[in-house]
Amino acid sequence: FHVDWDVEAAEKEGYEHFMIKEIYEQPGGIDKTLNRRLNKEGTIVLDGIKLTKEDLDKINKIYIVACGTAYHAGLVGKVAIEKYAKIPVICDVASEFRYRDPFIDENTLFIAISQSGETLDTLAALREAKRKGARILSVVNVVGSSVARESDDVFYTWAGPEIAVASTKAYTTQLTAMYMIALHMGLTKGTLSRERYDEIVAELKTMPDKAQKILDNYQIIQQLADEQFNNESVFFMGRGLDVEVAFEGSLKLKEISYINSFAIAAGELKHGTIALIEDGTLVIALATQNHLYDKMLSNIKEVKARGAYVVAVAKEGNEEVEKTADKVIYIPDTMDELTPILSVIPLQLFAYYVSVARGNDVDKPRNLAKSVTVE
Ligand code: G6P
Repeated sequence: FHVDWDVEAAEKEGYEHFMIKEIYEQPGGIDKTLNRRLNKEGTIVLDGIKLTKEDLDKINKIYIVACGTAYHAGLVGKVAIEKYAKIPVICDVASEFRYRDPFIDENTLFIAISQSGETLDTLAALREAKRKGARILSVVNVVGSSVARESDDVFYTWAGPEIAVASTKAYTTQLTAMYMIALHMGLTKGTLSRERYDEIVAELKTMPDKAQKILDNYQIIQQLADEQFNNESVFFMGRGLDVEVAFEGSLKLKEISYINSFAIAAGELKHGTIALIEDGTLVIALATQNHLYDKMLSNIKEVKARGAYVVAVAKEGNEEVEKTADKVIYIPDTMDELTPILSVIPLQLFAYYVSVARGNDVDKPRNLAKSVTVE
């Protein structure tokens, strides 16, 4: 009697790859990260963060430092903290920060974001900031990891173990964490009204359901991937928070599909990139920000006029984009400031299905490691 016991297959729980399993675990991960930290009054309670109002009033500058996908979460965190807590934030990649001789003193807060908590550059940057007197806060997924152990304050993302090299659920829980930290800081400092805080927390609570809705419609993305998997290059563009998501969407695609992809702020198009647009070039245009919607429609027209094939990502209800783009992927309506949690999901699915269509090793892409513990 022989049982063919494949541990890896068992861990995939019926999914073909860890990456798609982890993409589907996002509503649960966001829900845990958020809801387990809300008290009866709907206030965010952060047990691992001991920063008081006095501490926060003293802080005059924040560095957010990370690598890869975690860095992209930091870019969104920067916007949220500046908006809610009114403290200037510099977001930097760890490999640059650690050699830059950044200006840090005891009024600086250093925030490290890391799924593994073991990335060498992030850890080295943290130590450098600590040596110069900064207070260290980290957003980490792996409990007890080096980054967590060496921090003054820790926020654990409760994404659960992430196996696929391409990070997905770590990113959306990192985003959730950054919003929660920014809201907590804003309320504690008094730079954010209780009323506005409650509105944003209430909207954050809808994210798991809205994320699930996008996942339920995966066929639209799968079909798009089946049509587009043979592209040589893909451009992502957006404005405002859509740029940060464009960076992450582009990274996902290049990591696992090996397609040459990059992302730009749409306002920068005419400063160079538009020269690369020719007949049939695939452009993924994020147009989820209401206050920048018209500007994005103009940018879409600009690339269309040069022959691009445009797939837009927009919020339900903003249908005007259909007149210009070739295809529109809708995400559920939400506040402009929270869209990254949702708009990244179609891009993750797109990268996944393109990789599958190209026959690549989705979970273990060539040349890449899950955790980079060497320089
Ligand atoms: C590697 C992984 C990425 C990850 C980055 C940072 O490059 O392949 O998915 O975003 O490291 O890792 P960390 O564990 O610090 O978040």
